[in-house]
Amino acid sequence: MLDIPALRAALLAWYDAQARDLPWRTGPAAGKAGRRSDPYRVWLSEVMLQQTTVPHATPYFLGFTQRWPTVRDLAAVDDGELMAAWAGLGYYARARNLLACARAVAADHGGVFPDTEEGLRALPGVGAYTAAAVAAIAFDRPANVVDGNVERVMARLFAVEDPVPDAKPELKRLAGDLVTAERPGDWAQALMDLGATICRPKGPLCDRCPIQPWCEGSKTGAPETYPRKTRKADRPRRFGVAYVLTRGDATALVRRPPKGLLGGMLGLPTSDWRDHPWADIEAAEAAPTAGAWRDFGAVEHVFTHFALTLRVLRAESNGEGDFVWTGPEGLGALPSVFLKAARAGRERLV
Ligand code: ADE
Repeated sequence: MLDIPALRAALLAWYDAQARDLPWRTGPAAGKAGRRSDPYRVWLSEVMLQQTTVPHATPYFLGFTQRWPTVRDLAAVDDGELMAAWAGLGYYARARNLLACARAVAADHGGVFPDTEEGLRALPGVGAYTAAAVAAIAFDRPANVVDGNVERVMARLFAVEDPVPDAKPELKRLAGDLVTAERPGDWAQALMDLGATICRPKGPLCDRCPIQPWCEGSKTGAPETYPRKTRKADRPRRFGVAYVLTRGDATALVRRPPKGLLGGMLGLPTSDWRDHPWADIEAAEAAPTAGAWRDFGAVEHVFTHFALTLRVLRAESNGEGDFVWTGPEGLGALPSVFLKAARAGRERLV
């Protein structure tokens, strides 16, 4: 039988000594002294971290919290400003949900986040994971916080042979068996830190792992082969054309329709995105203005649900069309798919 109290004590002791110093985190010593993390900061960090890694999210987190120190400040931002600040974090539906949630907390909850998992779950755009994470980390509720890192730790700890994604419910149940009312916020964060720094996807550092004595995966000699995976179907691929229309230093941008992928963002003009490539003539015909369109190769971008190959065509403006003209400094705020295409279209000129 697994000695859960001993395993928990070992991981929490490791966390006490090794917790990463993160800007949204109240460290274990401060936590024991009764300090709690600001739920707004916890929520914001969790939404950002569902998109990306700690090093990539950290400057965004610091920028957001400096500009908008409270959820009420964030709720008052207009959509375009938030979308611009979110650029580079990917998946803009999250940014729209972020704003919807901030506005609901400000308008319906007096600017105070609900302090239970159920209450949090009822907020717009807050899913099971975020509700559990905020309940545990900000309010020390014994919630079962399971992301991909925790799934990996559980798959190894218990040498789960069923492949993911089918094994996900089992991995969640196994994680739930380890949660108690003792330090649930630290427990959740200890598992996250373990997954990020020791029980890494490739090259786990088992000799430094505080729970290695209990780890069935480690006993197999090949812990990195967990979680088992079924061969993932390849993402579908779509094809489009991006048009880099220039006027000297300036590049033509368009505002995308409010709904849909990258909705409401400024971007390069593009053709439709479809399931087969664009031939030269069609690509020129779909351009936003007539011009001497020249081929600047293609860029690749992977979205959550599909991969996109964007051909890049470039022409000098003939003065036609209604565009937002931006200088080189404005390109940095574009969603990364457009930044890649703009760079491909602009750099080869010089
Ligand atoms: N990954 C997701 N949430 C996290 C958190 N709160 N701390 C560290 N890594 C995380």
